[in-house]
Amino acid sequence: MSQFAHLNERMVEITARYPKSRSAVMPLLHLLQSDQGAVTIDGIRAVADHLGLTAAEVTAVASFYTMYKRRDVGRHHVGVCTNTLCAVLGGDAVYEALAQRLGVGHNETTADGEFHLERIECQAACTHAPVMTVDWEFMDNQTPQSAIEVIDQLARGESVESTRGPVIRDFNATEDTLAFPDDGLAGAGRPVDDIMLAGLKVAQELGMTAPSGHHISREG
Ligand code: FES
Repeated sequence: MSQFAHLNERMVEITARYPKSRSAVMPLLHLLQSDQGAVTIDGIRAVADHLGLTAAEVTAVASFYTMYKRRDVGRHHVGVCTNTLCAVLGGDAVYEALAQRLGVGHNETTADGEFHLERIECQAACTHAPVMTVDWEFMDNQTPQSAIEVIDQLARGESVESTRGPVIRDFNATEDTLAFPDDGLAGAGRPVDDIMLAGLKVAQELGMTAPSGHHISREG
């Protein structure tokens, strides 16, 4: 029996959502990751067989997106944005503090398997820079001290709320939500605040509008 037989029912459920089965490749990879902690070669073959694709086609997707991990990242994935805005506002210092606290570098996991540290790209959250993510939940406006406190709380087994509301679970649980975004948790918390909407408010006050797609294509 396949080592993925226990996932069959959920794979069928995910695939049934799409008019073309190959569109299910990304949520299926998240499902695998939630079960295995990583996207393994055997997992890639299982998804390919399920969707009637080649292993090379599934590998092309799995290797393109950095959210798919080829090695087990452990219990908690900790991402620190070190792109320009976060970096100049303190992201580099947050990263260095966490690297020192955890004793690991970029893309490394602590020996006890509890934390994996990664420098991540812009999370489209620059309004709250510098940001870090824990299991892809946002921790906004971090300092080296606040970031270390989050890690220490999780290490002590304490419940930690992300700055936008949802409680941090673990990497595999978040991967399950990414496979099944209708589990009721995707919209949990406070995904939008006044700072994020400030530009929109100014645009509305000034009566600004975006050109229509029709206009763009005619001009183009
Ligand atoms: S640069 Fe860090 S969220 Fe944009």
